[in-house]
Amino acid sequence: LREHEEFTKVKNIATVELGRYEIETWYFSPFPPEYNDSLKLYFCEFCLTFMKRKEQLQRHMRKCDLKHPPGDEIYRSGTLSMFEVDGKKNKVYGQNLCYLAKLFLDHKTLYYDVDLFLFYVLCECDDRGCHMVGYFSKEKHSEESYNLACILTLPPYQRKGYGKFLIAFSYELSKKEGKVGTPERPLSDLGLLSYRGYWTRVLLDILKKHKGNISIKELSDMTAIKAEDILSTLQGLELIQYRKGQHVICADPKVLDRHLKAAGRGGLEVDVCKLIWTPYK
Ligand code: ACO
Ligand code: ZN
Repeated sequence: LREHEEFTKVKNIATVELGRYEIETWYFSPFPPEYNDSLKLYFCEFCLTFMKRKEQLQRHMRKCDLKHPPGDEIYRSGTLSMFEVDGKKNKVYGQNLCYLAKLFLDHKTLYYDVDLFLFYVLCECDDRGCHMVGYFSKEKHSEESYNLACILTLPPYQRKGYGKFLIAFSYELSKKEGKVGTPERPLSDLGLLSYRGYWTRVLLDILKKHKGNISIKELSDMTAIKAEDILSTLQGLELIQYRKGQHVICADPKVLDRHLKAAGRGGLEVDVCKLIWTPYK
């Protein structure tokens, strides 16, 4: 039993079927009451309509003509594609995605106001269609400079680098907007691990290549990572000294090498030339 479980509402749906996967759920999700007596729900993997019975899904699959998320394909590299779905234009899809995601997100409040969000749905594509591996949501307008609201890699696809890819993607969008960004708080344990890993790798790579002094502001301009996140990451790596009332980065090459070795390599890179996108207006 997960230690969180006793603090959250009792889990209702135990498993979901999605495409070729049957997935055990982690947390409670507020499905409409008529679904609450089901242990298992069947999702159409393309439009995310959910049903209580296998036969209903089979009937649905014969008439559902979607083969990918309902939105614009804004990135394609090999078999990997990213779709941008506007919650206002695709309300039901956005809501269904939130219901599904909440099954794996503990401390997030579920937004029914999907109108205000864009959903970036990452898919692995083959001749049967584009299969969702994960997504992140992003407010159309964020006062707090959030560039990501919720992030999820579906359990069968976790620990393969998709989370890091989604995080990197969210920062590429921020760079195109000319803004710095930060994920909405609170972060889950896995969310924090993934962000820490991403920030560490990106910052170490720059510090390693850069000759001479560099400021947190310059790092922030280059990466779209918010200054506070840079500071906390570098503090965690003990690369910050406080001199004459200022934070100074002390990038001793030996220390950098040690951290870089420990950080390992991030597998899936975002190939920026394959991103075709303009900021939301
Ligand atoms: N145990 C230990 N470390 C882990 C684990 C794990 N189970 N999962 C991820 N990590 C760490 C590792 O450092 C990993 O890097 P490594 O594999 O090079 O060591 C790093 O996080 C990222 O791994 P990825 O494979 O890129 O990430 P993944 O595709 O598994 O997705 C995510 C990470 C999105 C956080 C996933 O765990 C998830 O969906 N969790 C459930 C939902 C959730 O908690 N989302 C974040 C909430 S906070 C927010 O939404 C703003
Ligand atoms: Zn469908």
